Amino acid sequence: MRVLVTGGAGYIGSTVAQELLAADHNVTIYDSLVHGHGAAVPEGARFVQGDILDSGALDLAFEEGHFDAVMHSLPLSRRANRCVSRVAFSATTSPAART
Ligand SMILES: NC(=O)c1ccc[n+]([C@@H]2O[C@H](COP(=O)([O-])OP(=O)(O)OC[C@H]3O[C@@H](n4cnc5c(N)ncnc54)[C@H](O)[C@@H]3O)[C@@H](O)[C@H]2O)c1
Repeated sequence: MRVLVTGGAGYIGSTVAQELLAADHNVTIYDSLVHGHGAAVPEGARFVQGDILDSGALDLAFEEGHFDAVMHSLPLSRRANRCVSRVAFSATTSPAART
């Protein structure tokens, strides 16, 4: 599966990403690096630097990634949750996603 791991440069997210890679999943990490470290991004994962509230950057990540699943490993406010849900819904229902 193609999995987006938010907060994947952090403690929990980088471990989750390593486990996903070990199970042969395609992993993209989305992290602002506000607390995490680029060095924590495991080898083999694609890295996108961006804030969870930046819907433009999220849109782009979803357009490029064609994700099957999203795993959140960062403190997710209700506002951030709405932002990700809106972008994910848009990405999976747009004409480009259906082709
Ligand atoms: N570490 C634990 O033992 C533990 C236990 C239970 C629950 N949790 C929860 O799991 C989540 C992750 O914990 P952690 O210990 O891995 O924290 P962490 O700080 O190591 O990782 C969080 C990551 O999210 C990134 N991030 C934060 N805000 C962001 C934003 N607005 N946009 C993009 N990226 C952002 C940070 O840069 C960091 O890499 C937290 O919600 C925490 O409360 C952690």
